[in-house]
Amino acid sequence: MNPGGKKDSPQNPQQQQTDVTRRRFFTLMGLGIGWGGFAAALGGSGVGALRYMFPNVLYEPPTVFKIGKPDDYGIGVDNKLKKERQIWVVRNERGIYVMVAICRHLGCTPNWFDDQKKFRCPCHGSIYDVAGNVVGGPAPRTLWRAALSIDPVDGQIVVNFTQRQDPDPKGTEEGLMVDEKSREVPPFFLEV
Ligand code: FES
Repeated sequence: MNPGGKKDSPQNPQQQQTDVTRRRFFTLMGLGIGWGGFAAALGGSGVGALRYMFPNVLYEPPTVFKIGKPDDYGIGVDNKLKKERQIWVVRNERGIYVMVAICRHLGCTPNWFDDQKKFRCPCHGSIYDVAGNVVGGPAPRTLWRAALSIDPVDGQIVVNFTQRQDPDPKGTEEGLMVDEKSREVPPFFLEV
């Protein structure tokens, strides 16, 4: 009995059935949300774990690398590492230097023409001699030479691609030139 003396009226069977159905609906919905959230969290952490195993890393080529022993290189320009390492290995009567195969105009890759003893850039026509001096075209500076050393353990030449010799050239009748003697100094020249 309620305080007002009125008897609680019992719900009819149809009303009870409706209440039960509504309760079941909300219970199931709650469970669905719970499991859905759990699955989403599991999926998220799975993706995180996969990303951890396969991180987004950009693999750059190494800037310090070995190129074999001095005896592997004869007199002249060796072209074999141009594609893989962007360098030419040059041996003259006094030793070895390594030039960076990047044009000093706008960065294209020149080609070596052994019959002409010249590097020629296909982009805008810069021409370099075997020492890297500019003897034609728009390039404003000579080709870079990279720093070299000999590995004391295996005797191989080690190239440091980012440590570069870049002297100021003189404007002459032949082109933009640098005195060769001033270039043949450590660590940019190996007397081997
Ligand atoms: S990039 Fe070589 S001449 Fe322009």
